[in-house]
Amino acid sequence: MKSRNNTYGFDIPVAARLATIVLIVVGAALAFAYTAGWLTPSRLTPTKLVDSLAPPDGAVRGFRRNHAKGICFAGTFEANGAGAAISRAPMFEAGSYRVTGRFNLAGPVPTMADGSARVRGLSLRIQGADGQEWRTAMINAPFFPVATPHDFYAFQLASANKDDPNAMKQFAASHPSLRAFGAWAGSEPYTESYAEDRFNSLHSFVLTNAQGQSQAVRWSFIPTAAPLAVPKEELNTRDPDFLSKEIAGRVAAAPQKWTLVLTVAAPGDPTADPTQAWPEERRKIEAGMLVVQRIEAEADGPCRDINFDPTVLPSGMRTSDDPFPAARSAAYAVSFDRRTSEAQQHPRTRAQGKP
Ligand code: HEM
Repeated sequence: MKSRNNTYGFDIPVAARLATIVLIVVGAALAFAYTAGWLTPSRLTPTKLVDSLAPPDGAVRGFRRNHAKGICFAGTFEANGAGAAISRAPMFEAGSYRVTGRFNLAGPVPTMADGSARVRGLSLRIQGADGQEWRTAMINAPFFPVATPHDFYAFQLASANKDDPNAMKQFAASHPSLRAFGAWAGSEPYTESYAEDRFNSLHSFVLTNAQGQSQAVRWSFIPTAAPLAVPKEELNTRDPDFLSKEIAGRVAAAPQKWTLVLTVAAPGDPTADPTQAWPEERRKIEAGMLVVQRIEAEADGPCRDINFDPTVLPSGMRTSDDPFPAARSAAYAVSFDRRTSEAQQHPRTRAQGKP
C-alpha cells in the first residue's frame, strides 16, 4: 500500500517512526542526565556521596571507597528460634546458616594503621536455606554522628574544606549529634581485638512475623569475649596490622562468637534517625550466635565480590523510614562498580606517588 507524503516529502509512517525514535533517544538522554544529577546540580547523588569520601590524594583504586581496610571470614549463624516470634526471616528459624563476613575499619585508605581507627565495622551476609540473604554492615559506635544522608555529605565536605578553617566548627555548631558522637569517641575505651567489640545496626528495620505483625527493631552483635581496654597511645605503638593479625590468631585457636540481640522499639521511639539511641531498657530478644570459624583472604577471597548492601533483606525484614539504607545502597553500588572494574592499586606504589 502507498503511504501519503507530507510537505517535507516524508512518508508519514516513516516520519512518525523517526519521531518516535528521536523521542526515545531524547527521553533516554534526559533520564540519564537526571540520574547523573546534571539537570539538578543541587541534588545529592550516589556518585557525589562516594566522591566525597575520597582522601585528599584521591581514591585508592580497586578498594572499597570506605571501610577499605578489612579482613574477610567465614562462619555460621546459629539461630536459637527466638527471632521467629517477631520475624519470618528464614535465618531466624532454629538452625545453622552460612555466613561470609568482614571485619573492617572506617576510612578510605586500605593501608591505614589499625590503631588509628576509632570506628570499626562488621559486615555480614547470612544465607538462608532457601537462597534468601540478610546483609548488614554495622559499626561499633552506639549511634551515628549525623541524622540524614544529606548531613553526611555536608559533613564530608566540611571536614575536607581546607580553605575555610571554620567550616567544620560551623557544621558541628549546627549539628549537636556530632558533639555527642565526639563525646563517645573521646571516652569509649578501645579494645585490642575485633572479637571484643560490639557492632550495631544503628538503623531501624521493620520485622514481620508469620502472623503478619510488624515491629521496628535495631540489632547488635555483642561479643562473648570480655573487652580488654587498651589506651589509645599504646595502640598507636602497635603493628599497623595488629587487629587483623590478632583476629587471625584468635580464630585459628578457637571459633569467636557474638550474640545477636534484637532491640524492639517502644511506641514513639525514633526510627528514622540513627543519631538517637533508644533507651537501654527496651525489650531485647537474643536470637542466636554468630560464630566466626575461619579467616579468609581479603584481597581475592570471598568478600571481594560482595556488596554488603544493607537493603538486601530476606522476607520478614524490611527497611524503615530511616533514609540511610537506601542512600547507602545506592552509594555502595557506585563503590562496588568502581572497585570491581579497577585493577587494585598497590598501596606502596600510591604512597610513593607513582602512577
Ligand atoms: C550516607 C552514609 C554512608 C555512605 C555514603 C557510606 C558509604 C560507604 C561505601 C561507599 C562503602 C564501600 C562499599 C563497597 O565498596 O562495597 C561503605 C562500606 C561500609 N560502611 Fe558505609 N556509608 C554510609 C553510612 C554507613 C553507616 C550508617 C554505617 C553503619 C551503621 C556504615 C558501615 C559501613 C561498613 C561496615 C562498611 C564495610 C562494608 C564491607 O565490608 O564491604 N556505613 N560505606
